[in-house]
Amino acid sequence: MVSRNDLERQIIGFYGASYPSMFEIERRCMDRDGLVIHHLDRELPGGLVLDIGAGNGFTAVRLCSAARKVVALEPDRGMIDTVVPLTWVQGMAQLIPFRNDAFHAAYATWAFFFDGVPGIDKGLNELNRVVVKGGKIVIVDNAGDDEFTSIAGKDTGSNRTWWRDRGFKETLIRTSFRFDSLEEANRLLAFYFGQEAAARNLKTEIEYRVVAYNTTVRKR
Ligand SMILES: C[S@@+](CC[C@H](N)C(=O)[O-])C[C@H]1O[C@@H](n2cnc3c(N)ncnc32)[C@H](O)[C@@H]1O
Repeated sequence: MVSRNDLERQIIGFYGASYPSMFEIERRCMDRDGLVIHHLDRELPGGLVLDIGAGNGFTAVRLCSAARKVVALEPDRGMIDTVVPLTWVQGMAQLIPFRNDAFHAAYATWAFFFDGVPGIDKGLNELNRVVVKGGKIVIVDNAGDDEFTSIAGKDTGSNRTWWRDRGFKETLIRTSFRFDSLEEANRLLAFYFGQEAAARNLKTEIEYRVVAYNTTVRKR
C-alpha cells in the first residue's frame, strides 16, 4: 500500500501557494507575449487535453476553445483556483486518475517533468497510457543559455540530450520576463536566486529561452 507520506514525497514542492504575491509577478511577467501558449495552441489538437501540474490554471484556461477542452490536473490543493473555469482534478503525474486513452493530448509547463526527477519515467508511462495512439505529448521547460541563466549564476536549462534520447523533438521559444519596474524584477530575482544575484540585474526585460519537447504516442 502507498502511504500518504510516500505520495507527498512524489509531489515536487512549489512556492506558488505559500507566496502568492511572488507567483503573481512570475505569471504576469514571464512570456508576456504569450509565445509559449501560442506554440502549445498550434501543437495541440482539438478534443480533450490534459494539463499536468496545471498550477493555478493560467495556461490551461488560455488553451480552451470551442474545439478543445483542457482538464487541469494539479496535486497541490493550494494551487487549485476553482474560480478559473476549468475541470479541476487533484492528482499527480505518476498516478493519473483517468482511464487508458482518455485524452487526445497531454502537456506540462514547468511541472514535474524535469529530467532527472525521481519517477519521471513513471510519469511518462502514465502520459502514454492516458493519451490515445497518435496523440501528442508536449513538455515545456527552461532551455538555459540566456540572460535569465546568467543572473541565476547556475545552469537552469533542461537536458536536451535526455529528451532527444527518448524520441522527443524540440522547439526553442525565445521569450522574456518583462517587468513593470526594476524594483519588481529584482524582488522576484532575489526570491528565486538571492539578493546578490538580483543586484547583478539592471534590466526590466530579461531574455528567457524556453524549450518545448514533443512526441507522438505510439501504441501497438
Ligand atoms: C512551476 S509550477 C507550474 C505551474 C503551471 N504549469 C504553470 O505553468 O504556471 C509546478 C507545478 O507542478 C506541480 N507538481 C508538483 N509535483 C507534481 C507531480 N508529481 N505531478 C504533477 N504536478 C506536480 C506543483 O504543485 C506546481 O503547481
